[in-house]
Amino acid sequence: MSDLKTQVEEVRGSFNSAIESVPTTDALQELRVRYLGKKGVLTSLLKSLGGLPPEERPLAGETLNSLRDELEKKFESRKLALLGAENEAAEATDWVDVTLPSRGRPWGAFHPVAQTMHEIVSIMQGLGYSVVLGPEIEEDYYNFECLNMPSWHPARDMQDTFYFPDFPDADAGSGAADTAPGAPGAEKSSKRRLLRTHTSPVEIRAMRRYGAPLRIVCPGKVYRRDNDPTHSPMFNQLEGLLVDEGVSFSVLKGSLIELMNGFFGRELKSRFRASYFPFTEPSMELDIECVECGGKNPNCRICKGTGWLEVCGMGMTHPFVIRAGGIDPEKYNGFAFGMGLDRMAMLKYGINDLRYLFNGNVSYFLSGRDA
Ligand code: DAH
Repeated sequence: MSDLKTQVEEVRGSFNSAIESVPTTDALQELRVRYLGKKGVLTSLLKSLGGLPPEERPLAGETLNSLRDELEKKFESRKLALLGAENEAAEATDWVDVTLPSRGRPWGAFHPVAQTMHEIVSIMQGLGYSVVLGPEIEEDYYNFECLNMPSWHPARDMQDTFYFPDFPDADAGSGAADTAPGAPGAEKSSKRRLLRTHTSPVEIRAMRRYGAPLRIVCPGKVYRRDNDPTHSPMFNQLEGLLVDEGVSFSVLKGSLIELMNGFFGRELKSRFRASYFPFTEPSMELDIECVECGGKNPNCRICKGTGWLEVCGMGMTHPFVIRAGGIDPEKYNGFAFGMGLDRMAMLKYGINDLRYLFNGNVSYFLSGRDA
């Protein structure tokens, strides 16, 4: 028993001096394991109780248990003291300045195609044009028939699209209200619905609604059954239409040259080439000088060395179309043009792959390089 007392004193003494000099909570935990853990000093003393004569066990047990309680208490109070000191030290170094401005995010911006659309629209508004929008889900009648492209017309082949199944019969449901007065072929009109392949049907809708004289631009999404690196099934166009008395081709030329120079911010060479569209006669295409190389680079990846960029289809509106718009072609004439806004955006902003315009990855535009 006296043996035990000595041991208890030794344990208490060594624990007390150790705990005073322990510098951190981690070291304190190690100390605890050394004395109170499974293989700790005190634990093995407790285990040795079994070897004592039975009459000595109760007192010895009591002594050791009270030593254990004493050590636990000291341990807890030292732990609180060390934690307090450690927290204070951490606060001195790890503080947060809540008055700092946040890191923020990159600013958002208009999509390049939206920007292009706004710029072109505002130039055209300066020339007296108003904006008119039409539906993206269109009727065959407006998209093709009224534009002088009856169902058998070969020009339809270039504009295959997505049809809706609700009017499977091409001749079903053609209503009298949709029939342009006297328009040839109107009686065979179709109400079959499709995703519009161009913005030209808005010409018809606008003429019917507002009559002549008329000066409009119609931007919007259009759809075709195309999907390859240079064609997307959805793309953006801008249509222009002017209807008045005695409109001449020179007004069309002047307006478009003005538009191109305004959009690219400098005077560009331009040329008008003969072309064909069923809804204009005569029809033309506008080429502008290559905005990348100005015609000086025979290996230019933009103009392929030709020095010219095809930017816009146009022509004097076909009398059939004027009539389909409910306007008298004997009294009024006009011109129309249509251009691809995606292409215009790519040319102006130097974007070399159409697909960048439609995937959600903004890093290409933030870095100005391939993502
Ligand atoms: N609608 C034509 C297309 O998508 C573009 C076009 C050409 C529109 C000539 C016009 C025009 O108004 O006069 O290919």
